Formats: sequence, structure tokens, C-alpha cells
Amino acid sequence: MAQDDVFKKVVAHCKEYGFVFPSSDIYDGLGAVYDYGQMGVELKNNIKTYWWQSMVLLHDNIVGIDSAIFMHPTIWKASGHVDAFNDPLIDNRDSKKRYRADVLIEEQIAKYDEKIEKEVAKAAKRFGESFDREMFCQTNPKVLAEKAKRDALHERFSVAMNNVDLEELRQIIVDEEIVCPISGTRNWTEVRQFNLMFSTEMGSTADGAMKVYLRPETAQGIFVNYLNVQKTGRMRIPFGIAQIGKAFRNEIVARQFIFRMREFEQMEMQFFVQPGKEMEWFEHWKAFRLKWHKALGFGDDKYRYHDHEKLAHYANAATDIEFKMPFGFKEVEGIHSRTNFDLSQHEKYCGKNIKYFDPELNESYTPYVIETSIGVDRMFLSVMCAAYTEETVSNGETRVVLKLPAALAPVKLAVLPLVKKDGLPEKAREIMNELKFSFNCYYEEKDSIGKRYRRMDAIGTPYCVTVDHQTLEDNMVTLRDRDTMEQKRVAIADLREMLQDKVSITSVLKKLS
Ligand code: GAP
Repeated sequence: MAQDDVFKKVVAHCKEYGFVFPSSDIYDGLGAVYDYGQMGVELKNNIKTYWWQSMVLLHDNIVGIDSAIFMHPTIWKASGHVDAFNDPLIDNRDSKKRYRADVLIEEQIAKYDEKIEKEVAKAAKRFGESFDREMFCQTNPKVLAEKAKRDALHERFSVAMNNVDLEELRQIIVDEEIVCPISGTRNWTEVRQFNLMFSTEMGSTADGAMKVYLRPETAQGIFVNYLNVQKTGRMRIPFGIAQIGKAFRNEIVARQFIFRMREFEQMEMQFFVQPGKEMEWFEHWKAFRLKWHKALGFGDDKYRYHDHEKLAHYANAATDIEFKMPFGFKEVEGIHSRTNFDLSQHEKYCGKNIKYFDPELNESYTPYVIETSIGVDRMFLSVMCAAYTEETVSNGETRVVLKLPAALAPVKLAVLPLVKKDGLPEKAREIMNELKFSFNCYYEEKDSIGKRYRRMDAIGTPYCVTVDHQTLEDNMVTLRDRDTMEQKRVAIADLREMLQDKVSITSVLKKLS
């Protein structure tokens, strides 16, 4: 199936089965804002629990907090967000559409990559098994010409971005003859900077209302609390503070469903270390976070690191963990060595001493920070894309199955009476009432058993049990496995022990230690 189609199907599936709905749907939606439905919220909560437990439960030197979304506005001045949290924007005068200049250029670079890939695919088909990709890429004149153009553009773009050279960004768009996808023209305005923070007013205007921002990242709530936590929790460096919470960005190019949203959720952890030790901790967290992703079992080839060439002014190392989405490898998580930039800035702006006293060294210093920052919604999207599968089954029909890791699945066990009579629903309810304290169970009696299995496949339920007339006599049920579709008779009394470990988050956490 073409990857474009996969993505469209995932988006449609999310709506059809109660995972994600456009926000304010009956009012035709609100751009880049989404709501999670009855299945989506369970999956999202499981992702958050997996992250929280892997950070806070597995590390005795990491604790959590939940800071407010509104913070003192000076925090965003100190962090640099008021002055520098900008996107370069350009408008097309004919379509009146607004674009991110950097995204237009990145898409142009991707077009060169696509052309190269097309040449490679054609040659691979022509030469069959004897095809040597590396040799072909190094010698084929068409590939070399496209690669030279691509690399030159990439270099020019990097320099312009590094220097925040807005005129040069516009010139690149003009020179590359990039057209507006709507009007098809090259009638571009100048490039302007646009701040991504949402703001509102706190207090009544009569009192002189204060302009406050909706936080664009959760990290600052951790920085401004680090000493509160350190002192009250008697933490010693190295230690970490974790937080899950909403963040808001007025994204201009908000596309690709829940990949880029205006209201989203982050899971961030700031790890405070002694200056000079940051690179070893950076490597540690880089490795641990990749392991966390891979432990879900979607296949190691779905992930890669992308080390940043251009570092933010406060960072001395940064890498992304990218996931192979249907629209290419994309950032899901960032791991950043943020130096002591944020804490030093807050110290300067608040005018108080917020240094850490190290009892082992008997000295005070501003800790360095390693940050791991992952978007819950992007993680959710990656999980849905990896899990969405279409299979042809023995009768020639297609079954849609979400091959979710059992630990993340919204429903762990469906309990299905074969028919709606003869005491089978009552028996099924009895099983539900027994097992619902251990994991999320779902009762369903409508439609044929085959249709009910398909529905459970579509929401990723790893196990179903069917209660039939024989059950009333021997207290055994048919247990069906979602992925293999194998069925076996098992005693009701054994169900909890058979399934509990397999569907628990602990089963995945154990792979991390
Ligand atoms: N505190 C660091 C920070 O916020 P970031 O790279 O801007 O770094 C971290 O964001 C993660 O948050 C990203 O890797 C992504 O998963 C998620 N994220 C950022 N912007 C997002 C958006 N508009 N919609 C959904 N997720 C987003």
C-alpha cells in the first residue's frame, strides 16, 4: 500500500473507532486542534504511564512535578522565548496563503531526495539482484547532478537559518523557483518573523492586566522549581525532574494531523548534573530513550538518531529520535544538552541565588542540564502508524488490525457471549466483574462473533474470550489471540494469571532494566 494511503487510512481509522476527533467537530473543526475519544484517551494514558514509570519508578533519583500552565511572564523573557521563539513566514500575494519559509525550502530539498530515490528504484528494478546501490549513487551522472544541487541548497539554507538571514531565505525561494501550491505563482512577500507563543491577559483591565503566555514547553516549569524540589526532596546531583503537561504553540504550518498541533502534550525530564559531566549523561539519556522506544517491539529499523548540525544558542549537543512515519522519518523526541543556560538566565532575571550547594565538592554551582523531551501526540501518531495493519485472511477478506503492544492497548480483554440468551450474557458479566479489577475489559454482545472479533482487532484488543453453552458446564472459554487468531480452550480461573503479565506496562518496563 502506498504510504500516503496508509496515512489517510490511519487518520480515518482514528475517527471511526473513537481514537481522535477534530476539535469542535460539529462546528467544522478548529485548525490543528484535536480531541481524544474513548479509545484514544486510554491509549494516550497508557503511553504516559509507560513514560512516567520508566522515568520516575525505575530511577530513584528522578521525581515528578506538575507545574501550572501560566507562569510569570518574565520567565519567557529569561528563557529567550519572547525574543527568539519565532518562525520565518512568507505570504503568497495571489492565494493569500501563509507559509513557513524554512518548510518551503525543506520540501524543495525533499524533492531532490525523491528524484534521487526514483532513479535508484528504477535502476534497482533494471539490474535486479546484482544491483549495488552505493556504487550506483557514486557513479550515475543523473544522481550525482541531483545530489550536487541538493547539497548546495542544503548548505545555503543552513547558513541562512544560522544567521537568521530572512532576505536570503526569500532569495532561496525565488532562485529555486518554488511556487505556491494553491495559486501556482511565485508572487511572494518578504519573509517576516512570527512569534509562536499564545498570550492572554491576567486580571481585570481596571487593575492594569498583565500579559501572560500559555507555556510553549513544560521545561521552564521544571527549571523554576528545581531548587524547591532539590531542597524539599533532599535530592543530590545528579537528579532529574519529570513532568507531563500541555504546551501551546501558534504553529503556522499545522498539518499532518496530530503531528503538529497548536495545543499538545509533552513529557519532559530535566536531568541536573555537575558541570563537565554533561556529555557522558547526554550519551546515557540518548541510549536510554532509544531503548524505551525500541522496547515496544515495532522493529528497530523504525527509529534513527538525527544529530543537530545547527545547535540552539543554549545547547552544546542535541539529537532527535526520529520515527519512520508514512511521510518519512520525523522527529518524535529531542535530547538536548542545555548547558546551564536556563538556570543562569533565571538567576539573572529573578535576581536570587539559585545555585546548588554540592556537599561532596563543598562548593556551589549552577548545574548543567540534560533534557529529554517527547510529544505525547507524536508518540501516539507513531504508535498508530506502526500498529495499523491490513491483512488478507483465509476467506479472502481483508481484516484491519491494530497490532498495538498489549501494554498500550486501550482494551486488554473483550468478553463476548456467543449468543444473547441462555444465561451466556450473565456468565460473561461474571467474568468481567472478576477481571475488571486487574485490567481493562470490554463487554460486547451485539452482532455475530466474527464481526465482534473484527471490531476488537480494529481497536487493537489483544485478547477475546467467548462464552458458549459448554462454558456453563465446564467453566472454560475460548481465548482468541489478536495477532495469530489462534483459539484455545482455557479455564476461566486461569485467565487472570495467563494475561495479567502480558498486558501490563511492567512487562515492557522489564525490558529497560
Ligand atoms: N523543551 C524542549 C522542547 O520543547 P521541542 O523540540 O520544541 O523541544 C519537543 O519539542 C517535542 O515536543 C518534539 O520532539 C515533539 O514531539 C513535540 N512537539 C513540539 N511541537 C509540537 C507540536 N506543534 N505538535 C505536537 N508535538 C509537538
